[in-house]
Amino acid sequence: MSSNSNIVLIGFMGSGKSTVARALAKRMSRFFIDSDDLIEKLENRTISEIFESEGETYFRAQEQKCLAWMLGALKNSVISTGGGLPIYADGVKKLGTVVFLKSDFEVLKERIWGDSTSERPLMEDETQAKKLFDERMERYEALSDITVDGNGEVASVVREILTKVALSH
Ligand code: S3P
Repeated sequence: MSSNSNIVLIGFMGSGKSTVARALAKRMSRFFIDSDDLIEKLENRTISEIFESEGETYFRAQEQKCLAWMLGALKNSVISTGGGLPIYADGVKKLGTVVFLKSDFEVLKERIWGDSTSERPLMEDETQAKKLFDERMERYEALSDITVDGNGEVASVVREILTKVALSH
């Protein structure tokens, strides 16, 4: 486990990382930071626009840059990461205690496709999305210090994280 005191949420798209991180940060009186928000601010355009005009390779380079910035800048924060950041960028474990929000594909699907405002370029095709999900699960497990059940309500996920983080120290 990293000696850095950030709490870092990882997991597949739709696992509720941003919502849970926001609620957790409030409970812990910490700042909440989201890597996708940082990249959108850096680029002054949305993630979908970046994928469309520059392609995925460019986006992954921006994620690595974002991780490098967070490593230098953040302490005692709750960080939500884009689903691919821990997979493609090196060094997420150095950022803090890594918490994997593990959700079933069926639950993720419902959350993402049930939300008309959701813009996720890698979730447009179900077969591709499931393939990505299967490829990534082991990696998320291997990178995390703590795994929690991401299928439930936000409040219960937050409770599980708080309990497990306290036990891990
Ligand atoms: C991605 C996840 C997205 C966003 C981008 C790529 C991925 O973030 O970074 O669309 O590769 O899993 P969320 O996990 O917050 O949806």
